[in-house]
Amino acid sequence: MQLSLSPPFAFASSRYSQVVFLMVPGVLFCCFLLLLVFLQWHRPKDKRLPPGSMGWPYIGETLKLYAENPNSFFFNRQKRFGDIFKTHILGCPCVMISSPEAARIVLVTRAHLFKPTYPTSKEKMIGPEALFFHQGAYHSRLKKLVQASFLPSAIRGSISEIEQIVLRFLPSWKNTTINALQEMKRYAFDVAMISAFGEKQDLETEGIKHLYHSLEKGYNSMPLDLPGTPFHKAMKARKLLNETLRKLIQKRRQSRRQGGGLLGVLLGDTDNEKLNQLSDSQIADNIIGVIFAAHDTTASVLTWILKYLHDNEDLLEAVTREQEGIRSKIVEANRGLTWDDTRRMPLTSRVIQETLRTASILSFTFREAVEDVEFEGYFIPKGWKVLPLFRSIHHCADFFPQPERFDPSRFEVPPKPNTYMPFGNGVHSCPGSELAKLEMLILLHHLTPTYRWQTVGVEDGIQYGPFPVPKWGLPLRVGRKNKSATP
Ligand code: HEM
Ligand SMILES: *[C@@H]1O[C@H](CO)[C@@H](O)[C@H](O)[C@H]1NC(C)=O
Ligand SMILES: *[C@@H]1O[C@H](CO)[C@@H](O)[C@H](O)[C@H]1NC(C)=O
Ligand SMILES: *[C@@H]1O[C@H](CO)[C@@H](O)[C@H](O)[C@H]1NC(C)=O
Repeated sequence: MQLSLSPPFAFASSRYSQVVFLMVPGVLFCCFLLLLVFLQWHRPKDKRLPPGSMGWPYIGETLKLYAENPNSFFFNRQKRFGDIFKTHILGCPCVMISSPEAARIVLVTRAHLFKPTYPTSKEKMIGPEALFFHQGAYHSRLKKLVQASFLPSAIRGSISEIEQIVLRFLPSWKNTTINALQEMKRYAFDVAMISAFGEKQDLETEGIKHLYHSLEKGYNSMPLDLPGTPFHKAMKARKLLNETLRKLIQKRRQSRRQGGGLLGVLLGDTDNEKLNQLSDSQIADNIIGVIFAAHDTTASVLTWILKYLHDNEDLLEAVTREQEGIRSKIVEANRGLTWDDTRRMPLTSRVIQETLRTASILSFTFREAVEDVEFEGYFIPKGWKVLPLFRSIHHCADFFPQPERFDPSRFEVPPKPNTYMPFGNGVHSCPGSELAKLEMLILLHHLTPTYRWQTVGVEDGIQYGPFPVPKWGLPLRVGRKNKSATP
């Protein structure tokens, strides 16, 4: 940018003596110069890219991201360049955002300028009509429907069903070594199936479960569609899943019984006119998408909770006392757990909040500038990725003192505005946050008064799969709690 001024200047001085003969062209030339100066003067202000290093051509800083751990990669650059910096990873120029105010601009106030963006292979696998790939009218129509089916008023009716799932799982963990992550996935998946299809499970449920697991195995593999590759198998499973769901949808349409769950809500959205019904594909893609968004996330957080409670014995005892208090009332009244009970678990809720902060399983999210954007004094070109870094904000000592300490009591006062976004923010924020918290509370309600767990193997560490989880998925030995304090 700075170089472009010097050649015209050199040219001008050589012509200086002939200025009388070249009056007219000279004036024109001066205008040209002035224009250049004007442009130069304006460009640094309007077109200044954020600071940062773009690394090597094409590969950018991708190798560095993988060589370092992701946390220190982001932390070091934030220290060096500030809260808004550019880099180049995974083949894309990116702007990283790690201040609460700037993240809010991207996700909330100017969200229309930053669309969600995913690799096409993921879009194909989940289904291109799933709401998270969209902006505008289609997105907001679906978002309203999904939100409606996950509101507290809608999910409170599922509590006894979720409780039944927990009570089926717990005894199977006793006296054996379990892989916490795998077990939590099974639990969160079963809950997701209920919220997708309703309590009365259809004949197709088992088939759907099976196909879903095949789909999942290929989800994080290389998108190489050749016979035998995990990606290829996953795409095959996706096709069969499409067929199975279509049959289920048609069955429910024909019987005029929309049935329960999100599927019931999506089928019921007639928008007055028959023409405006959601198509089978739109429904199928969104059902698959929501199950996807619901279970790995929740399972990863639950695994971290077991780890943190294991490592903080006093906290585990305090949570146990809170749950025992509620448990004894329930047993006395001979009834099941209710929504109101779950609202009286302040300490357990703070453990969940602090786990969401510390573990920050969605370390960041991807957006893409839909046009050239003037942003906080910088210029972000159209097509660049923009990544709000949730984890960096959650681990900033200005907002969360001693950020590496696991300390639920910090949530006794609410966090500063826009500093706490475990479920995102703005139009694309998570519609499942209440369900996720509810299923964690229900599990802890039955687990802590009766069971204790020891880690197997001594290795502490993090693994990415793709969410950060304790190493090896946290193998645990589960046994009955010693004291017979339970009523
Ligand atoms: C602890 C568990 C969970 C965490 C940490 C979590 C986190 C998030 C975050 C951060 C986003 C925003 C992503 C972005 O802005 O790009 C999101 C979106 C979403 N989540 Fe969750 N989520 C969890 C559980 C669930 C559950 C149980 C459901 C089931 C309903 C769900 C469904 C969705 C959907 C459908 C979206 C996309 C919303 C949209 O694009 O408008 N999530 N989640
Ligand atoms: C599902 O099937 C429908 C109709 O056959 C098709 O239009 C759609 O693309 C399929 N979706 C996926 C993700 O394969
Ligand atoms: C589990 O172990 C305890 C003590 O070691 C034993 O009393 C109990 O019978 C075992 N339970 C099962 C289901 O194996
Ligand atoms: C239970 O008590 C025994 C002996 O008192 C001890 O060895 C064991 O570790 C305890 N188990 C748990 C889960 O605390």
